[in-house]
Amino acid sequence: MLSLLTRRAQPNEVFEAAARANRPVAYIRMAGEPVYILSDPALVNEVFLEHARDVMKGRGLQAARPLLGNGLLTSEGEFHLRQRRLAQPGFHRQRIESYAAQMVTEAERHQSSWVDGARVDMVEEMTSLTFAIVGRTLFDTDLTGDARTFGDTLAELMSGFGQLSAIGSERLVRLLPKGQELLAKVEDLDLVVQRIIDDHRAAISFGQPHADLLTWLIEAHDDEGAASFGATMSDAQLRDEVMTMVLAGHETTAMAMSWIWWLLSCHPADAGRLYDELSQVLRSDDPAGEFRAPTFDDLSALSFTRAIVAETLRLYPPAWIMGRRTLNDLVVGGWQIPSGSIILGSPWILHRDPALWDRATSFVPERWLDSDGQFDENAPGQRRGAWIPFGFGNRRCIGEQFAWTEATLLLASLASRWRPELIPGSRVSTAAAVTLRPRYGLPMTLNRR
Ligand code: HEM
Repeated sequence: MLSLLTRRAQPNEVFEAAARANRPVAYIRMAGEPVYILSDPALVNEVFLEHARDVMKGRGLQAARPLLGNGLLTSEGEFHLRQRRLAQPGFHRQRIESYAAQMVTEAERHQSSWVDGARVDMVEEMTSLTFAIVGRTLFDTDLTGDARTFGDTLAELMSGFGQLSAIGSERLVRLLPKGQELLAKVEDLDLVVQRIIDDHRAAISFGQPHADLLTWLIEAHDDEGAASFGATMSDAQLRDEVMTMVLAGHETTAMAMSWIWWLLSCHPADAGRLYDELSQVLRSDDPAGEFRAPTFDDLSALSFTRAIVAETLRLYPPAWIMGRRTLNDLVVGGWQIPSGSIILGSPWILHRDPALWDRATSFVPERWLDSDGQFDENAPGQRRGAWIPFGFGNRRCIGEQFAWTEATLLLASLASRWRPELIPGSRVSTAAAVTLRPRYGLPMTLNRR
């Protein structure tokens, strides 16, 4: 703990040190509020799943409400369930299968601009790629035109609202000068989103609907919740869901991809094994032949590729922390937790716990393979609940299968032709804000294979 105090420690390190020192429930105070950090998977499960009705989302997301509104990430109770019911079919297997082709097209387009030997920031590269994919798959919109403004403004806003997250109140954020500055930028983004919604409504009325999630959301009817919330979504609600999906749908996957490139650069033997698998699956019989683009049907054959995604999500979970505020008094692990407290469950803490994982802080992708070399999402022999990168229950990530498909196909498409390498001497460490980012970016050289 002392070494953490002697330098500017990141929140993930501070919470981890507290959790290890006080198992299974660590108590700290943060911005004057009681905070309980859980380090036992069974307790995390108990609070986030079994007590799902006794808790609501934590303070970080409250501050971001001016940006995210009442979308899936931030809404609560019956209204959240209704929105989830409406959006869920947009993430069914057949839909993901159709998105897969677009993901690969964007990956192929992106790498066509890469130059052998060029130096790039891999975080920027992956962010612009996943941003383009969200635009294309969810809203059939080329966000690359608007991308710089939309993407840059969104990143700036998330970081701005992230800094205000300690305030934990939407009302206070709106009163602060910094909050008002951010709100003016939110209005600029709202205009772009409204344009996308108008365009989709017009396409529907001309009988030529786009084949994407937004069209699905516009047309979705909710008979169950109609009496309370209306049968369809208003433009204001669509705006909140669009903003939420754009944000939740690109930043997390971009960070996962960025950490993957760094880990592969540090572990050349694993990078070699990945390349061998890609050669087997994606190259014609002629070993000197060209690689073809991967498809959705290749996923089951890409076991080691998926193991690399899983192991990266273990060591560098993009959504590194999940917070809940208690709505009632709870007893958790023998602790009396009063109503109004914050409870934290952290993938970062559980995924790196030596009590839960063998070689907890080492990169060991093969732990995700069974004795036949097939990918097993439960990591053979692993304790249940020790791996939680996508959260729990009815608040579990709605884009989980989207993210798996995207990360695996992007990795297959890019790593079959490129071997990015960290520029020697570059500093790499974590910055834990809303997501877990490489603090100084990832300066890498692109090497053509
Ligand atoms: C590697 C990539 C991703 C990771 C690690 C991730 C992680 C998570 C986690 C942990 C949660 C739960 C948060 C909580 O309970 O407080 C969540 C929720 C959510 N995610 Fe993801 N996510 C990823 C990709 C995506 C994608 C691609 C989309 C959309 C296309 C998406 C959309 C959402 C939404 C809308 C929610 C809120 C769900 C609800 O509360 O009903 N995520 N995500």
